[in-house]
Amino acid sequence: MMADMVASVEMMLERWKEKEGAEVEIYEELRTLTSEVISRTAFGSSFEEGKQIFGMLHKMMALAETNMYTIRLPFISNIFKTVDEMEAERLDQGIADSIIDIVKKREEKVKCQQDVDSNGYGSDYLGLLIQAHHDEDETKKISMEQLIDECRTLYAAGQETANAALSWMILLLAIHQDWQEKVRNEVISIFGHEKCLDFDGIARLKIVSKLSPSFMFHIARIMSIRRISFIFLIIFLLQTGMFILETLRLYTPVYTGFIRDIGKEATLGKLTGLDGVQCHIPFIMIHHDPKIWGEDVHAFKPERFLDGIAKATNNNPTAFMPFGMGHHMCAGSNFAINEAKITIAMILQRYSLTLSPGYVHAPHPGLTLRPAYGIQIILNAL
Ligand code: HEM
Repeated sequence: MMADMVASVEMMLERWKEKEGAEVEIYEELRTLTSEVISRTAFGSSFEEGKQIFGMLHKMMALAETNMYTIRLPFISNIFKTVDEMEAERLDQGIADSIIDIVKKREEKVKCQQDVDSNGYGSDYLGLLIQAHHDEDETKKISMEQLIDECRTLYAAGQETANAALSWMILLLAIHQDWQEKVRNEVISIFGHEKCLDFDGIARLKIVSKLSPSFMFHIARIMSIRRISFIFLIIFLLQTGMFILETLRLYTPVYTGFIRDIGKEATLGKLTGLDGVQCHIPFIMIHHDPKIWGEDVHAFKPERFLDGIAKATNNNPTAFMPFGMGHHMCAGSNFAINEAKITIAMILQRYSLTLSPGYVHAPHPGLTLRPAYGIQIILNAL
């Protein structure tokens, strides 16, 4: 998986060679990158193959954003559909058809005995889902609808969020040149100027400066990267880790947070939640609350995470939840943090980033928090 991430970033950097010294629209560049990463790692395909799906998902999300607060009347809305609803159904069907095409291609490959590994349909996410679809044990088998649904969720959940997060990270690196230097120095101290990142080095980027690096490096080697939980990642931080967490706090991609049903009457402090009531937890408001983070809450200060999340949150560690909380917490949090570390490390090894004078700061609160007019960065080769 890491190798696929590295290969995807390599492709982007290859494209950038022609843009050195020029202005680059980072949000769009990272859209291609994050699409490529999900396509390769989860579906064993390329962005080109998944392009149609991402295009349709993008249009679906735009429709969802426009209609987010539209009130529809019960029963009548089942009979009369708006133009947007009809378009959403058409797109949804298009996405399902494209996913079926990708599934069929994989099944064909297996039939022809090409590209089949010991896991039958492949060890990536798509392969495991197809395997489950063909499972002879009825209790484990998943239907084609479930398979399509899982793929749709992963395409949607893994791309937009990572696209937004990485874009804000690049912006903050370009604005805060001191942090750009700190993160670059850390990357160079671990990987040197090697253009190819190795896995042990990536593990070392997870290690806290407060503990002996050799001790933590030893632990990171013993544990496979996958098994290092998000909690492990956030407890043991280096500059890069602190920088990523501070970006996720300031520019929380899923800024709206989540909605949970209150299953039965519950009391929390002075609040009583009644059965059936929906409770909205707005992440971005919690991440910008001075009572939790202090008076400098709006300032960019990665070092606030130096002594861990509990210290940064005034002993309210659950107040930091860019990836949600509980049973439905983001399934791709480790994936996203690794993707961010690899991307930032590889970019900073090669380029110094400067914000273009033409950049207009306008975070747009859509389904994710994204830059309304993109982020224009000037790439200076090192
Ligand atoms: C910085 C990037 C990301 C952020 C900020 C983010 C954030 C979130 C949030 C807030 C949720 C809802 C959690 C909840 O309801 O408690 C979520 C769910 C989810 N995320 Fe992510 N995510 C990111 C990247 C990814 C990636 C890269 C993947 C896949 C590779 C992914 C897969 C998922 C899935 C499958 C769910 C649904 C989990 C469920 O309902 O059980 N996410 N994400």
